[in-house]
Amino acid sequence: MTIEPFRSLPGQIVEDLRTRITAGTLRPGDPLPSTRVLARQRGISRGSVVAAYDQLSGEGYLVATRGGTRVNPELPRPPRPEHPAPGVPARPRLLGDLRPGVPDTALLASTLWRRAWRAAAAEPVAYPGQGSPRLRRLLAEHLRMTRSVAVSPEQIVVTLGARDGLRLILMATEGVVAVEDPGYPTLHQVPRNLGREVVPVPVDEEGLSVSRLAELAPEVVLVMPNHQYPTGSQMSAARRFELIEWSRRSGAILVEDDYDSELRPTHPALAALDPQGSVALLGSLAKTLTPALGLGYLVVPERLHDDVARHMLPVSGIVQDAIANFLENDGMRRHTARMGREYRRRREIFAEIFPRGIPMNGGLHAVIELGEDEDEVIARCRTRGLAVEGLSRYWTASDRPGIVIGLGAHNREKLREVLVELRRVLGT
Ligand SMILES: Cc1ncc(COP(=O)(O)O)c(C=O)c1O
Repeated sequence: MTIEPFRSLPGQIVEDLRTRITAGTLRPGDPLPSTRVLARQRGISRGSVVAAYDQLSGEGYLVATRGGTRVNPELPRPPRPEHPAPGVPARPRLLGDLRPGVPDTALLASTLWRRAWRAAAAEPVAYPGQGSPRLRRLLAEHLRMTRSVAVSPEQIVVTLGARDGLRLILMATEGVVAVEDPGYPTLHQVPRNLGREVVPVPVDEEGLSVSRLAELAPEVVLVMPNHQYPTGSQMSAARRFELIEWSRRSGAILVEDDYDSELRPTHPALAALDPQGSVALLGSLAKTLTPALGLGYLVVPERLHDDVARHMLPVSGIVQDAIANFLENDGMRRHTARMGREYRRRREIFAEIFPRGIPMNGGLHAVIELGEDEDEVIARCRTRGLAVEGLSRYWTASDRPGIVIGLGAHNREKLREVLVELRRVLGT
């Protein structure tokens, strides 16, 4: 508030506070500064503030309480804006959240997890460049133990997740980007947003079609050999060798999305077969720990190192230290082992209720194929409070109606209840 010389000081304070209360920047119950403090802040006499508070109390806007003067808590709240702020989707009221990509985080907050965060927060440190050297050393160890990949910490960049890792590879390369069809649309959006041409390549029972790749001759290939999404299959050993061989001959970079391999027995990473460096490995902790971290890592092929380095974004030092502590205190290994067992039990519940569904080998999600229109089924689920996703959004063109459901959001008991309700809605 600027003091206007021709209006009474108490009058100006009254108008200022009244406007803020009616506009909602001061809410019912909010405390006001004491008359002494406000007088000092505004450089006016305390008497003027006392007179203003008295007037607003008389009007019913303020009340004097033992803890000081407050906005009257009985005032009606000003109406909220009708539309949520852009980028903040309205949360549907859900009976059952079966959207894929939501891991169960209820079991995450163990003593080791809390200890890891307490220590990280007590001494906040920032890490420019590739990220915390200790975290990179521990990630190299983690990759060696869990994915049979022998890399040095210098080859690892700490990222904001798989999408950020892919962005870095794309900044360091040029040309057409091949993606799996079906695949994970969230990642496919990254090259599109960067103006890159994206070509879909079919996936058969053995994995991505290398003969089709040879025809399309892309410079970059995004591939999920260890847990194809959403089909859940693993690329065969023969196809892996064929793919590596093709990339060597063509000079293309293979970007391996290795998003949840710690949760399940699977092949060693594709990067383990490729000492010559045509595979960039995208790691993410979104599924193994929680998407709330926004943390991942990238193993960078030697020849892209300098170009990647030019485009790195800093990642929270506290998050990096907490995860380094969690790896070091063995919390990560114990948590992923526990979640692996937990998700196996959930897949068993799914298989019991949907014997003809396809629980993904080791994953947190499952696919149910439908004999009727997908959109209709999704809408029917929604009206019964069940959130599911359509299978067709993962294909460029699909003649396989179905739904993809996540098994991560509810505990086993609730999951069973929600799946029984889903079976009722589907009429199976
Ligand atoms: C197939 C797939 N790739 C990658 C990720 C991780 O992506 P990000 O780390 O960018 O959240 C997920 C997470 O749900 C996923 O489902």
